[in-house]
Amino acid sequence: MTMLAIDGLRVVHRGPRTPVVAVAGLDLAVAPGRAVALVGESGSGKSTVINIVLGLLNRAEVSGAVTVDGVDMLRAPQRVLRRMRGRRIGFVGQQSFAAFDPLFPVDAQLREAWRAHAAGGATGMDAAIAGALDVAGLDLAGLAAGLPPHRLSGGMLQRAQVAAALLHRPPLVLADEPTSALDALLARRLAEALRALRDNGTAVLLATHDLGLAARVADEVVVMRAGTVVERGPVGEVFARPREAYTEALLAAHPSRGLLLDRPEVVDEAGA
Ligand SMILES: Nc1ncnc2c1ncn2[C@@H]1O[C@H](COP(=O)(O)OP(=O)(O)OP(=O)(O)O)[C@@H](O)[C@H]1O
Ligand SMILES: [Mg+2]
Repeated sequence: MTMLAIDGLRVVHRGPRTPVVAVAGLDLAVAPGRAVALVGESGSGKSTVINIVLGLLNRAEVSGAVTVDGVDMLRAPQRVLRRMRGRRIGFVGQQSFAAFDPLFPVDAQLREAWRAHAAGGATGMDAAIAGALDVAGLDLAGLAAGLPPHRLSGGMLQRAQVAAALLHRPPLVLADEPTSALDALLARRLAEALRALRDNGTAVLLATHDLGLAARVADEVVVMRAGTVVERGPVGEVFARPREAYTEALLAAHPSRGLLLDRPEVVDEAGA
């Protein structure tokens, strides 16, 4: 069974200047309880893939097929896409500040996010929010009740964003550079949270520059460059024995390359 299936995806961004082929043919499947990481240099097309799976980017020229839990994300009506984003797909992005309205308390916004997509009114709301905050590792009730986003630290906001993504226990979680605003310790906690989700049956698709994060979270890694797949395979194998010079170069640029080799769990022990 697959939760996310991408077949022959091609995405061309049309802009004022020449069109950019951001994804030039991608096949990918993520099953429940599995995590796949897209890695590659800036501009390789990682975020484009994530945005396509979210059913955004309706101005790009897109061909191929993308289904989430059987729903065609390229052709479904907006109403269905909104429901998918609210209930079936959790998204954690790079800009945690942008995920919240600056004027309202973060805890109130979590309640609002619950109500927007809950079928049964407020039933189960408090338990769902507490559960999501727990997975995200944030004590919002104790530390930040009633506080607007700018009163929370970047790390707290990032965890609040993770909690918002998990409120409805989505079977698919997408994360685009989720650690870029975090210090090393928080990044490690976020990796643990993503891994826990995966272990509990969630399908996870991660886009990141951070090879340490990919090593900790992913089962499979897909190395992209300029919209094409350079190399892919089980993360331990690809990181230990890259077949392509491009993958080798990415790994060589990693500050603690030795820790990525063979045993990704070593990265955790070293606290890299
Ligand atoms: N909305 C857009 N309109 C036009 N071009 C875009 C758009 N979004 C991305 N691109 C272009 O598509 C290519 C892929 O960009 P994308 O953001 O998917 O890469 P990325 O791998 O996520 O990069 P980064 O690591 O910097 O986040 C780039 O050349 C980028 O300039
Ligand atoms: Mg990106």
